Amino acid sequence: MDKSEIKARIEELSASLRQHNYDYYVLSAPTISDFDFDQSLKELEKLETEHPELAGENSPTKRVGGDITKKFDTVAHEYPMLSLSNSYSREEIVEWENRIHKLSPTTPTYVCELKYDGVAIGIRYEDGKLKEAVTRGDGSKGEVVTTNVRTIKTIPLQIKGDFPAKFEIRGEIFFPLENFNRLNEMREELGEDLYANPRNTASGTLKLHNSAIVAERGLDCYLYGVYGENLAAPSHSEAVKKAGEWGFKIPDPAKNRITTCTSIDEIMTFIDFWDKERSKLPFEIDGIVIKVDNYIQQDDLGFTAKSPRWAIAYKFKAERVETTLNEVTYQVGRTGAITPVANLEPVLLAGTTVKRASLHNADQIAKLNLHEHDSVYVEKGGEIIPKIIGVNEDKRQPDANPVIFINNCPECNTELVRKEGEAKHHCPNFVGCATQIKSRIEHFISRKAMDIDGLGPETIDLLFKQGLIENYADLYLLTFHDIVELERMADKSANNAIKSITDSKNIPFESVLFALGIRFVGETVAKILAKHFKNIDALIAANLEELINVEEIGDKIAQSIILFFESETNRDIIARLKEYGLSFEMIVAEDASDVLANNTFVISGVFEKVSRKELKELIEKNGGKNTGSISAKTSYLVAGENMGPAKLAKATDLGVNIISEDEFLAMIS
Ligand code: IVH
Repeated sequence: MDKSEIKARIEELSASLRQHNYDYYVLSAPTISDFDFDQSLKELEKLETEHPELAGENSPTKRVGGDITKKFDTVAHEYPMLSLSNSYSREEIVEWENRIHKLSPTTPTYVCELKYDGVAIGIRYEDGKLKEAVTRGDGSKGEVVTTNVRTIKTIPLQIKGDFPAKFEIRGEIFFPLENFNRLNEMREELGEDLYANPRNTASGTLKLHNSAIVAERGLDCYLYGVYGENLAAPSHSEAVKKAGEWGFKIPDPAKNRITTCTSIDEIMTFIDFWDKERSKLPFEIDGIVIKVDNYIQQDDLGFTAKSPRWAIAYKFKAERVETTLNEVTYQVGRTGAITPVANLEPVLLAGTTVKRASLHNADQIAKLNLHEHDSVYVEKGGEIIPKIIGVNEDKRQPDANPVIFINNCPECNTELVRKEGEAKHHCPNFVGCATQIKSRIEHFISRKAMDIDGLGPETIDLLFKQGLIENYADLYLLTFHDIVELERMADKSANNAIKSITDSKNIPFESVLFALGIRFVGETVAKILAKHFKNIDALIAANLEELINVEEIGDKIAQSIILFFESETNRDIIARLKEYGLSFEMIVAEDASDVLANNTFVISGVFEKVSRKELKELIEKNGGKNTGSISAKTSYLVAGENMGPAKLAKATDLGVNIISEDEFLAMIS
């Protein structure tokens, strides 16, 4: 391919990937397989790496992030970013509508929208390209977070259709609840502090310096306003429709997420509907926004100093109840983290009975100024755990004592520690604290770790109480009799448990490493470490510098690994597990070699003796690398039946070695 052909191919791939991104993320209606999408993306990445001068700044390859922003610049907003006047009272909405109605020459049309609970963003487009994304800041100037905003898949980098040369679009960036809860589950698994709510976490995420992390977290954005001159739309509802045509994510009228109407009754129907239904949404909203639709009418109504007169927000009262704090208890996690829990007088909240709420850490208790038997306000957002958001101090007994965070572990009485920079207290008695040991055993046997069936938390507790297990290595000494004699244990279940323990000896090294329960070593980190160090001895021997040099391993993870292996108890347990036959090294396939090392392969067509999948596996097993498209860097094209003539021509053009299936098999035999 000559340069103009490469340029054309890059443009073709970019346009098609852009459309597929839109179909997938905005419309939730993909039209190609993930595999085909990845293939095209890889081809584009490759072309851009080889010809960086042809790579567009808004290329679909830029979505994965990776660029670092050291400091966010501040810029002035072209149109001030105002806020809405808020009201919790329906009467005020009626009054507002009345006023508007009286001032309007004709019956006004209103647009009712959801009030997304996230962070406001203004995004400037020029000639259809995303130029700059700025936070609200103080309303007149905000911070430039373009690099991070580019990673949000529902925000187009290049828009399509008939758009104005210059405009700004505003909307709300939010954390979809599924992604937020997944993030917190991951943090819990790693022994890290949980994020309090989706809104603050969205805001914090937008200010992260590493855009790759932003990309991974999965923020989303709904657009709610277009600003500029010559917008070619007479009203807000038309402008929103246009924005949808340009490729932005806009609310779906078919799901009643936006509506136009002309009476207060219809406005109230919309409010009532979402007051009931909002808990079913996959993201949080905190109210409804009502806007006068027509732009000329909006102009006539104008602004107050802080907000437009043509719009108002009805805020939902958070689903909040008041109840009594019975007691604060403290949970000890697998890694020793202490979480205070408020035990409450049971109360009905958003359809479920709430008995407990997390208090997160000592600072939270102090911030609430919590006293024994306080009457507390409990709220439930999208998060799984309800939270205490305040105290009704009027109801406090005069002699009530403040809640004082414990000094010693509630399980083993060891003095707690709180490291600098960490929000949580920890029980440092890693080897002797019963709760930590039991939850480590539970983690060890869990599905993604050693995948041992038939031993629930109660059974672990019984085995522990009877002194049959003191750590996870002891599981491998258990006999059928040990288990069957436990309360409520049938022969069949005991047999299953023993079989499952024996089977777990075949679990691969990376899962065993995850099962050990090293703080901050989740599934992904365990995989990286296993691949890099190949066996446990090399990992134990690694010093801080060697660990940090491994891609994606930071200081915090490295320190935690060192701490874990410094413990003689841990090293003894590992020695025993080794003795019992668990895998502590990466299994290298018997037929593996490195004869293809440093060679890159492209396979094309249909093969006779092996499938395409097997062929790819053989390449990797023998140290070679598979890629999707041919370039000057390709070492071999393995050509099968019916391979595309274009590929063949390209390979010939670039002087790539073209080999048959038999020639390939001979190379590795
Ligand atoms: S219109 C002049 N529409 O609510 C302001 N705002 O105080 C025009 N918000 O931070 C804003 N959903 O980011 C508008 N459908 C919606 C909204 C919305 C959420 C946010 C906005 C601002 C706050 C208003």
